[in-house]
Amino acid sequence: MKNIFVTRKIPEIAISMLKEKGYEVDVSPEDRILSQEEIINYLSKKEYDGVISLLTDNIDKNIFEKSKSVKIFANYATGFDNINLDDAKAYGVTITNAPAPLSAEAVAQHAISFMLALASRIVEADKFVREGKYVGWEPMHFMGTDFLGKTLALVGGGRIGERVAFYAKGLGLKIIYTDIAQNERLEKEYGAVYFKTLDEVLKQADFVSLHVPLLPSTKHLINKEKLSLMKPTSFLINTSRGPVVDEEALRDALKSRVIAGAGLDVFEFEPKLVDGLVDLPNIIMTPHIASANLDAREQMSQIVAENVIDFFEGRVPKNIVNK
Ligand code: GLV
Ligand code: GLV
Repeated sequence: MKNIFVTRKIPEIAISMLKEKGYEVDVSPEDRILSQEEIINYLSKKEYDGVISLLTDNIDKNIFEKSKSVKIFANYATGFDNINLDDAKAYGVTITNAPAPLSAEAVAQHAISFMLALASRIVEADKFVREGKYVGWEPMHFMGTDFLGKTLALVGGGRIGERVAFYAKGLGLKIIYTDIAQNERLEKEYGAVYFKTLDEVLKQADFVSLHVPLLPSTKHLINKEKLSLMKPTSFLINTSRGPVVDEEALRDALKSRVIAGAGLDVFEFEPKLVDGLVDLPNIIMTPHIASANLDAREQMSQIVAENVIDFFEGRVPKNIVNK
């Protein structure tokens, strides 16, 4: 019998899969983000063997030190930058993520939605109508950007980037990408053209969409200097992790029209926003919801349980991130 703690309510499927195996599962009774101290406190109530954690949980040696019976933290997310992998290694704890195909699909859809909304100025125009400012059709009002023949740069050509390319191709965009490794499928199926450096894709793109994990090497990947390489007519989309973009530099670039606009689902200091961001007309923002649809979240729930079960049944979980 194994004891599993889940740091917040997630779709039921994981809980029932674990219970079917005879595991005892405790879900945090608070439906909110737990602090490190609260997680440590919950984990001290029982000899837990495994934890299902969320991207809002800050997991490091403070927790590993106080919960030595826990051998696996299965993160209910594609990203796992909320977990200190060096500390996990030092304590011999296994970490898995949940890169559900349907969540990649949902994130890609969200990135494309940002691009369409920015190009057609949907959010600004909606506000205009709601404010009662619409007094009649105008020939030069709310001029947008067309997609056909424009260039999309994917920064990160992995699973999510590939799905963005799938939709982008249908919209008539040319696709270029940069990554540490080339992705043959991206090139064969979507005609994506590879460039070795970030600078090269930034200079050419009309839309730049970020699909990299947050790592020391990707923190502030998009900073003042990189923004200045982008076209003044271009748009930046971030559905990856907030700190990949220097948010103050982005605010300044949007304000002085170094670039035309941005769509952000993630923020450097989320849930806080840097000062002045909300006052800009050329940014649209959503509260880290890119993977939020029921099918995606249920598939993530299933994957998280599979990783836990594989681990305790002596198989190598499919999504170990600290081998
Ligand atoms: C969401 O941000 C995820 O990493 O799954
Ligand atoms: C990024 O998380 C990717 O899979 O492309």
